[in-house]
Amino acid sequence: MDQKAFIIGNETVKKYLNVDDVIKCTEDTWRWYGEGKVVMPSKITTDMEKVGVPGWFNSMPAYIGPTDVAGIKVVGGYEHNREIGLPFIKANILLTDSRTGVLRALLNGDYINDLRTGAQPAVMAKLLAAKTDVVTVIGTGLMAYYSLLCMSRILNIREVRLCDIYEAAKDRFIDRFPDAPFRFVKCASNEEGCRGADIVMTVTNANADLVEYPWLKKGALVMTMGSFRETSFDVVMKADKRATDHVGQSLHRGNVKELAEMGKITADSFEVVVPDVLAGKCAGRTNADDIIFAQVIGTGMLDVACAGLVLQRIEESGEDVFRYDMTR
Ligand SMILES: NC(=O)c1ccc[n+]([C@@H]2O[C@H](COP(=O)([O-])OP(=O)(O)OC[C@H]3O[C@@H](n4cnc5c(N)ncnc54)[C@H](O)[C@@H]3O)[C@@H](O)[C@H]2O)c1
Repeated sequence: MDQKAFIIGNETVKKYLNVDDVIKCTEDTWRWYGEGKVVMPSKITTDMEKVGVPGWFNSMPAYIGPTDVAGIKVVGGYEHNREIGLPFIKANILLTDSRTGVLRALLNGDYINDLRTGAQPAVMAKLLAAKTDVVTVIGTGLMAYYSLLCMSRILNIREVRLCDIYEAAKDRFIDRFPDAPFRFVKCASNEEGCRGADIVMTVTNANADLVEYPWLKKGALVMTMGSFRETSFDVVMKADKRATDHVGQSLHRGNVKELAEMGKITADSFEVVVPDVLAGKCAGRTNADDIIFAQVIGTGMLDVACAGLVLQRIEESGEDVFRYDMTR
């Protein structure tokens, strides 16, 4: 039996995985999770700050039944990375044989992490947005880029409004879309960006009330993706429906965390669980006028599923990618 593990760098991942693959993989994997065909324990955070190392990493295991892919993503944030030319977030993915535990592959997880992060709001908006003409992006960094890249593949967008504390960040963002089929509007305030928008997406590293409830029009979809609070509590509490990709993880991180700690939001507060919507177990949007708040929290099953797809394609291609027998 050939037991050599593939060692797969980021350039090879990019060769075998495109935006459309990741959008499809995200939708399929969420649906399988809703159908009970994916096993995914909660992620575990290892915070090294308390012993003087400025960083943390999450261990995110999953088993994807329909494609028989078992693995774990280890992704962390490392304070000094930017000073040495590395991204703040670094991800690696390890895949093992589901029957023997033998290592199948070790992949650089950066591109997969970026693309699957962007695919999430795209699939969510496809399911939950009443309209997609005007999209407001608050925080125009890297994850916002991948999000709009994916959204533009499957949504008809007419106008993209940009809000950021740095003008240069908005300009850099626009430069990343030289052939955009929509027009960009740089906004002077978040209120200007939000009023009348069909979709409001926050993708910042802020911990602040970036979106206020009175600024939202009827039928708006608000998606928060950052790791901390990004809207006023009212946006969550007064929304007609609350949605998430994963209930448990949404209570411990991101926009809802503080409300959950106060006991104002519980697992039952989420009327819409996106994997269940895809599995036909719960309704998504039922009224065009509803304001829907959605927490896009991110789960390891998507990274593991995408990594499995990359490995499958490399195996099918026969390309001579570096391999090493870890069983020796
Ligand atoms: N939900 C997920 O699946 C997921 C996955 C990966 C990363 N994230 C989170 O997404 C967030 C963004 O990550 P990134 O890699 O794009 O970071 P980034 O540094 O590339 O971009 C963040 C942007 O937010 C802007 N910003 C900061 N404070 C702001 C404020 N008060 N108002 C408006 N803009 C503000 C910054 O100027 C910057 O342009 C982080 O919180 C990260 O942890 C979420």
